Amino acid sequence: MRNILSTKEMLLKAQKEGYAVPAFNIHNLETFQVVVETAAEMKSPVIIAGTPSTIEYAGGDYIVNMAQVAARKYDIPIAIHLDHFEKVDEIKHYIDEGFRSSMIDASHEGYEENIEIVKEVVAYAHKYDATVEAELGRLGGQEDDLVVDEKDAMYTNPKQAKDFVEKTGIDSLAIAIGTAHGLYKGEAKLDFDRLAEIRKEVSVPLVLHGASDVPDELVKKAISLGICKVNVATDLKIPFSDAVKKYFNENPKANDPRKYMTPGKKAMKEIVKHKILVCGSNDRY
Ligand code: 13P
Repeated sequence: MRNILSTKEMLLKAQKEGYAVPAFNIHNLETFQVVVETAAEMKSPVIIAGTPSTIEYAGGDYIVNMAQVAARKYDIPIAIHLDHFEKVDEIKHYIDEGFRSSMIDASHEGYEENIEIVKEVVAYAHKYDATVEAELGRLGGQEDDLVVDEKDAMYTNPKQAKDFVEKTGIDSLAIAIGTAHGLYKGEAKLDFDRLAEIRKEVSVPLVLHGASDVPDELVKKAISLGICKVNVATDLKIPFSDAVKKYFNENPKANDPRKYMTPGKKAMKEIVKHKILVCGSNDRY
């Protein structure tokens, strides 16, 4: 039996052993269950992520309690993670409720302002042994309610990344090297030279956002170059909802959530399994 964990140990182990911990965005009980059950079957550490609008939708207290149940039930490290939070007070509130992993996304602010905001979160989170991820550079695309126009997307500068990590004391760094949230208009192109440069400058675990719709080989290459956490949302949402839509098409009178949710869960499970294999996080515990 374990407690709800921060991402500290699991990411450092992944960094040392050369794999990545998958962070799956969930929205409700069903998607939460699919992620933890599959990770447990595959003996993979797992990060369950929720954006501000998801945590508001599902209820932070419900998520904390679901995670406690899962931590008692399964013998794998489980973290619940506040993904893309922009408000310091909200992060503090959810840490008080029991979350031990957070991302403060102040990447839309100027550099100095970003540092100040992140430092405030780090000072609070570390008192509770909670971890903090921050982003430098900006990803384009849409993640729940957060929309960043492609023209505002910006790649991470390796030298600035070093300075940022040193000044903020963060536990992990989300970098922008060409991925985007959601589906790609063309082909995903990743700047691997930049990733290698950042790895040379920065010692904390590196995080790849927007890993949906990126070919597996590119994600694997990013992991081999130092990515230790891979975030996946869209690639789970689409098969889940497609399977539910199909069920309703075939059973227009269906009204039992246990019946119409089950095909969604099954479809999502296959993707979770696949992503765990791509991350190489299976059989680590
Ligand atoms: P995708 O929706 O592109 O998988 O992005 C997920 C993500 O980065 C969550 O932070």
